[in-house]
Amino acid sequence: MSVPQQTFLRDAMRRLNMTREAFASRIGVSRRALDTWLLPAESAESRGMPEIVERFVNEILTRPADGQAAQSAYPGSGCPIQFEGRPQLLSVDQFSRESAEDLFRLADIMQPIARRQKISRVLEGAVLGNLFFEASTRTRVSFGAAFSRLGGSVCDTTGFTFSSMAKGESIYDTSRVMAGYVDAMVVRHPERGSVEEFARATNIPVINAGDGPGEHPSQALLDLYTIQREFSRIGKIVDGAHIAMVGDLKYGRTVHSLSKLLALYKNLRFTLISPPTLEMPAYIVEKLGERNHTVVQTTDLREGLRGADVVYATRIQKERFTDESFEGYTPDFQINQALVESVCGPDTMIMHPLPRDGRPGANDLSTDLNHDPRLAIFRQTDNGIPVRMAIFATLMGVENLVGRSMRDANWKSPAYIGVDDAVFHGID
Ligand code: CP
Repeated sequence: MSVPQQTFLRDAMRRLNMTREAFASRIGVSRRALDTWLLPAESAESRGMPEIVERFVNEILTRPADGQAAQSAYPGSGCPIQFEGRPQLLSVDQFSRESAEDLFRLADIMQPIARRQKISRVLEGAVLGNLFFEASTRTRVSFGAAFSRLGGSVCDTTGFTFSSMAKGESIYDTSRVMAGYVDAMVVRHPERGSVEEFARATNIPVINAGDGPGEHPSQALLDLYTIQREFSRIGKIVDGAHIAMVGDLKYGRTVHSLSKLLALYKNLRFTLISPPTLEMPAYIVEKLGERNHTVVQTTDLREGLRGADVVYATRIQKERFTDESFEGYTPDFQINQALVESVCGPDTMIMHPLPRDGRPGANDLSTDLNHDPRLAIFRQTDNGIPVRMAIFATLMGVENLVGRSMRDANWKSPAYIGVDDAVFHGID
């Protein structure tokens, strides 16, 4: 044997992910015999392992046991969130209704950590690379906070100017280099499909934090999680709900991802309210129709909001405009307190992925709703933490360790984080 028998046996147990008890049973020897083989060679109790045992252990290591999958090139290949066999999240298309709800159950487990009552260190030692080549507040900081709250640490790079992409470095090279430094990457980039290029260059977890007008899957997941959580308090379910989406439905990647995710449910009514120049892309409208949802496209905000269970407002994505004008996006598209009072019910949730444009003439979601408990926007942003923790835990294979890993936090935080936070049917 080229290595000491103790090293050989310890390595075998580690590679097979087995306890001493399980390993002794697997190789058909008594636990006591194994213990004596594992004692330091200089110990008086130490015994030499028979050669036949060594041969058998080598055989187990090279031939997977019955029903045990051969080791994959990708450590996370058993992961429920996969892109081309790797533990990576690029699109909501990777989810079924069941797998989304499994993630939400894990997010529920994360809530005490997100609410600063508990601490977990399941990602201790792991490093996240947060690569944002486009402006962000929520997504960048909440992914970083989620990773940190699970015990990991975070390295950031923001914008092209301070990245070597400004010197012409390719996505492939950037991704491969980063993968040597960090254990997971979150990437936002202005071009559709660009995050997929990052993902294909590495086997480590990569998460799409927004690829131009393409997708924003973690935002859609936290939006749906918020809808489900609030509906459950008021006795509603997602099946059969009326969802009104308002604003820039053409370039708003959050509404693209959320529509596809909601399409996994049954018999929804979608009212899509926008100026004609900013309508929802046809492929998404068709997808909703194929799944037997009712879709109404209109420019009439007042009529479109009537009877809605959820009003999902969006910002005009001016940064993505090429030759279109946002002429037509008039004050008629602004959601404000007066409009909500006149056409929405007491249970209507008012959502927005944020940021909202608060500048004069922006006609975005009005701040005069800030005291209204129907305004769910900060409950949405708060839910970004448990949902993103659940994504990390799943992609990094520690989802089953979180529950047992928690201990009490030593510090105190306020019961209400925001000065205007209002309780909506018992939800704060
Ligand atoms: N909702 C969202 O993506 O916000 P940021 O652009 O601030 O990340």
